[in-house]
Amino acid sequence: MTRIFSGVKPTGHLTLGNYLGAVRTWVEEDQYRADALFSVVDLHALTVEHDPARVRRLSRQAATLLLAAGLDPGRCTLFVQSHVDEHTRLSYLLECTATDGELRRMIQYKEKGASARAAGGAVRVSLLTYPVLMAADILAYGTDEVPVGDDQAQHVELTRDLAVRFNQRYGHTFTVPRATHPRVAARVMDLQDPTGKMGKSHANGAGIVYLLDEPDVVRRKVMRAVTDSGWGVEYDRAARPGVANLLDVLAACGGGRPEALAGAYASYGALKEDVAEAVVELLRPLRERHAALAADPGYVDAVLREGAERARGIARPVVDRAYGAVGLLPPG
Ligand code: AMP
Ligand code: TRP
Repeated sequence: MTRIFSGVKPTGHLTLGNYLGAVRTWVEEDQYRADALFSVVDLHALTVEHDPARVRRLSRQAATLLLAAGLDPGRCTLFVQSHVDEHTRLSYLLECTATDGELRRMIQYKEKGASARAAGGAVRVSLLTYPVLMAADILAYGTDEVPVGDDQAQHVELTRDLAVRFNQRYGHTFTVPRATHPRVAARVMDLQDPTGKMGKSHANGAGIVYLLDEPDVVRRKVMRAVTDSGWGVEYDRAARPGVANLLDVLAACGGGRPEALAGAYASYGALKEDVAEAVVELLRPLRERHAALAADPGYVDAVLREGAERARGIARPVVDRAYGAVGLLPPG
């Protein structure tokens, strides 16, 4: 059976970008067609300045939201990364496989490193090694497919390189995974800056739709979205990124192709109104289920406990095999 692994970082509240780019596919397709594991990858939240209490709160919230979005613990495995030691155990072996040159080439490292330096701060070593930990997350489970948004393609490519290199040096140990992306909305852009992706922790939240935003807040953010100068509604990602982003979101919410939807609108205002309503309706059931689940933290904790146990059972033998393959003496 196909094995799927993916994760989300508890660095901020989950956004419409997370949902359309990744979580929705996990819920609607992946958990039904494969042995799927999904993780709140909390260790990855420590690569930039963080507040311990906030990370703890956001980790529980992310898990609760994933259940509210429709992950079914009877069909997939949901767990918190730091509850399973195999991730960091394997990460070290992969640090001994990766080179500093290939890590320094990662776009996310370059961008986040530059912004940390510009803010006068230091760059944590873990920001550089983070894609190696991500590779460990994936390879520890013999993963075939990694459903992610576009921005993670480079990290999955690195994961493949590390798997192939390790296998060549030490004998076949890891399955070589591949990334999968949604057909539309693989990169949802910030509503205020449609040349940049909608990220959890953008300085200005006005361009970000959070999954738990109230309907009125969603409407306001969509109605104020930056559109492009020019007449008529056209789908052109390069020349008209603001309008193309709205058409992508509308297509992702209601089906259809963004190019075809463009023809149905005479004005930006009418397009925004439909996008706002579509997003409000998309998020409504999720908000309602989140409220119910948040009232029962014991249930969420039990799901995470069982998930971690199952995850450990899968990862342990894979990581043990890797330890043996590189020449570490097994404990007697
Ligand atoms: P992160 O928030 O970085 O932990 O991302 C969790 C998942 O959501 C990853 O698969 C990302 O690729 C995806 N994702 C994050 N932001 C966006 C976005 N703006 N558009 C599409 N997918 C996204
Ligand atoms: N790096 C991913 C992101 O920022 C999150 C992540 C960590 C992940 N480990 C993973 C995604 C393993 C897929 C598989 O979105």
